[in-house]
Formats: sequence, structure tokens, C-alpha cells
Amino acid sequence: MKPMTSDAHILMSMTYASRANPNVSAKDFNEILQQAQVNNAVNGITGMLTFNKDYFLQTVEGPRAQINHLLYSLIGDQRHHDLQIIETRELTHRAWPEWSMNYASPTEKNAAIYLKYSTTIDFNPYLLSAKSAQNLMTELSNQRD
Ligand SMILES: Cc1cc2nc3c(=O)[nH]c(=O)nc-3n(C[C@H](O)[C@H](O)[C@H](O)COP(=O)(O)O)c2cc1C
Repeated sequence: MKPMTSDAHILMSMTYASRANPNVSAKDFNEILQQAQVNNAVNGITGMLTFNKDYFLQTVEGPRAQINHLLYSLIGDQRHHDLQIIETRELTHRAWPEWSMNYASPTEKNAAIYLKYSTTIDFNPYLLSAKSAQNLMTELSNQRD
């Protein structure tokens, strides 16, 4: 049997928005990121996570079975709620093959990128189209290079 991390599966990506629970701290953000990076390296998942104090926006990419499995965990995770899928699609290539979980949060340096995709004063991922979410994630991850 092939290892879980093999790309000889149907690859998919899933992008969702969620609301951070009010008691979620900076320490929790770090723990989420670390947990994502450790688990994803084992499960053949890669992707990009962005967050501010109110919201998460995440794209995960990997074997379809693993992405669906993760979705159940995410829905049950008490650190956020109101998970809304923005997009799922099949992939031929990963956007972040090198990143078990890349990440960005608003800083002075990337503020213009968030602003470009915001229709309100604060960044709100629930208002993004699938295309805008994809472009935002790409721009944020390029910024870090
Ligand atoms: C915003 C957010 C993003 C997350 N991203 C991932 C992820 O990419 N991969 C992952 O395995 N867990 C992620 N988690 C954690 C899962 O919801 C769940 O707690 C975890 O997969 C369970 O891991 P365990 O079986 O090692 O306890 C995330 C949680 C939150 C709140």
C-alpha cells in the first residue's frame, strides 16, 4: 500500500472561513498553527492559513480522503465556529507543496493586500468570492517569500 503522503490520490483543495471563538488567544493561534503543521506533514496535507483576532481563512490541499477527514475535525473544533466552505476543487498541482501550513496575519507590511480584498474596514473572509479568496491567499504567501 502507498503511504498516505503519496500524491497518487485524487488531490483536492478546500477553502473555508470561520469565526474564532472569543476566548481564543495569541497562544491558541500558535498552537493551532503548530498542530496543523505537525499533523499535516503526516497526512500529506499542505496549505495556507490566515487569521486575525476574529476570523480564520484557510486553504488545505491534499488527498481527498484526508481533506474530508480534516473537515470533520475542523467542524468539531471548539476554537472556532460557523465554518463556511468557500470553495472546493480538484487539483492537478498543489499551490503550497513546500508548506505543511503556511500562514499570515495582518501586519503593516501586508496591510495593503488585506485592504485590496476588503469591502469593510476590517478584513472579513465571509465576504470573499472563491476567486478573491484564492488570489488573497496567493498574494499573502508570495509576500512571505
Ligand atoms: C482554524 C483552524 C485550523 C486548523 N487547521 C488544521 C490543519 O490544517 N490540520 C490539522 O490537522 N488540524 C488543524 N486544526 C486542528 C483540528 O481542528 C483538530 O483539532 C486536529 O486536527 C486534531 O488533531 P489530533 O487528532 O492530533 O488531536 C485546525 C484548527 C483550527 C481552529
